[in-house]
Amino acid sequence: MAYLVNDTYLLTGDALFIRGCGRTDFQYGDAGLLYDAVTQKLFTLPDDTLVYPGHDYQGRTVSTIGEEKLWNPRFAGLSRSQFIELMNNLNLPMPKKMLEAVPANQHCGKVLMALDYQI
Ligand SMILES: [Fe+2]
Repeated sequence: MAYLVNDTYLLTGDALFIRGCGRTDFQYGDAGLLYDAVTQKLFTLPDDTLVYPGHDYQGRTVSTIGEEKLWNPRFAGLSRSQFIELMNNLNLPMPKKMLEAVPANQHCGKVLMALDYQI
C-alpha cells in the first residue's frame, strides 16, 4: 500500500524502501503482487516524485522514483520471476512477536489469547 500526497510525496509504507522493499514471506505476502505494484504503479510516477518509505534502518529519509528505478537492487534490471526468486530465498529470521502481532492487528489490537511460546 502506498499513498501519493499532492502529486509529489509518495508514502510507500512497507512496499518500497530506499534501495529495498518490504518482506513478502509473512502471512499473506506475495512477491509477484509486490513486483507488479511497484513496477506497474509506483514506477510509472514521475521520476522526481519523492519517496518516503515506512522504514529505513540506515537513517535515510527520502529518495525519488527515478533513483529507485535506477538503484534499487530489488527491482533494477530484475524480471518478475527473478524478483520472486530473490524474495523467496532471503532466508530472513521471523520477527519477534510476529505470531502475536498479526492476529492482534487483524482484530484492531485486541489480543485474542495468550500464547506460550518463544521464537
Ligand atoms: Fe513495516
